[in-house]
Amino acid sequence: MRTLLPAKNGLHGTLMVPGDKSISHRAIMLGAISHGDTMIHHFLNGEDCLSTMQAFRELGGVIEQVDDDVLVHGQGFKGLKQARRPLNMGNSGTTTRLMMGILAGTNFTTTLIGDSSLQRRPMKRVSQPLEVFGGEVELTPNGTLPAKIIGHPLHHAEYHMTVASAQVKSALIFAALQADGKSTIIEKLPTRNHTEIMLQQFGAEIMMSNDRTISVTPHPHLTGQVVEVPGDISSAAFFLVAGTIIPNSKLTLQHVNLNPTRTGIIQVLRKMGADLSIEELPTKGEPLGNITVKSSELRPINIGPTMIPSLIDELPLVALLAACASGQSKITGAEELRVKETDRIKTVVEELRKLGVHVKELRDGMIIDGQPTWQVRNSQLASHGDHRIGMMNAVAALKASNELTLIGEEAINVSYPDFFNDLETLAGRN
Ligand code: S3P
Repeated sequence: MRTLLPAKNGLHGTLMVPGDKSISHRAIMLGAISHGDTMIHHFLNGEDCLSTMQAFRELGGVIEQVDDDVLVHGQGFKGLKQARRPLNMGNSGTTTRLMMGILAGTNFTTTLIGDSSLQRRPMKRVSQPLEVFGGEVELTPNGTLPAKIIGHPLHHAEYHMTVASAQVKSALIFAALQADGKSTIIEKLPTRNHTEIMLQQFGAEIMMSNDRTISVTPHPHLTGQVVEVPGDISSAAFFLVAGTIIPNSKLTLQHVNLNPTRTGIIQVLRKMGADLSIEELPTKGEPLGNITVKSSELRPINIGPTMIPSLIDELPLVALLAACASGQSKITGAEELRVKETDRIKTVVEELRKLGVHVKELRDGMIIDGQPTWQVRNSQLASHGDHRIGMMNAVAALKASNELTLIGEEAINVSYPDFFNDLETLAGRN
């Protein structure tokens, strides 16, 4: 259990946030299926990305790590070997779903297992479309882990996605890379495109058109690269929100990834009236910048389905912003939140209510009545084993007038092991 202190003097300073989680996973994966060495800088040393690293080691990969520098000795898709035991995905949905696409085209069988949260998450959304490419994945009758991936030669397909999910899309791209002809994947809504961008860097012939259509030419010669992982906007977001809602704050977050498929939180902050400025930085890869934020008063907001994919992981924070705004905000079209590390509609509503915020739970979102100050009803906040709920609570607690506590702080190690250290530094307590 951790004590959460209010930030009475605001938050100040400059912070380099940890490497992007999505990009760190993909850098290991692409490094492993390419030929030659891939050097990854500013790799996210969180538990989820370490699950990906460990999985590839058990598939015969040689991966060296010194702090946040990782060297992957790639041996191509054909270099992957049958693991001696089931691969443990830990808490990581991204590892699990992307691995399914990679392993579907091997000539061996792999079993994937995971922790109690991951074991509850839906996997049919990957296994079913993989069947269209000739893949075979056995799941429990509930469509959950453990998953048995029976490797097969794969065939090409045109597939219209039924969920807006970058994880599912990426699994299908990995399958398409191993197919017997050119494939086309059409997204339901545009989602994060890190797999596509990184594959182009490694030499794949992959085309993106009209935001939603991806064409994949199979069997490219992928060559190892140097990958500079940018700062994770999903981690920076906790401090962008903290800097906005805590009076007397001014913060700069450096080297943050500004890929437009990820920047929904910046649009939301601006629409709500946050004081935010961006200095774009030169980059050879994805867009990058330093973001400065100062405390400000907030207006309420309405968020609908098309906005959701670009801020899917930031929705708990959007709810927190709304709880501080003057008026009623509404989030709809966010039913995907129900199948994240926790049911994030339920857990956000439960935690905000402890803080005295009036929130109505909807099937696909929530309605939040914002107030400048809250009457805390229960000082014992909980992460529910979900890193982003733990960090949302820690940010909310900065605004409270008294100390609160957090149960389950260890969940935060999944994506941001240094979170509390960075928070205390910005609060001037280190
Ligand atoms: C991710 C995609 C998103 C996101 C997750 C990371 C990725 O999941 O919530 O944290 O790296 O592709 P979905 O694809 O299920 O929406």
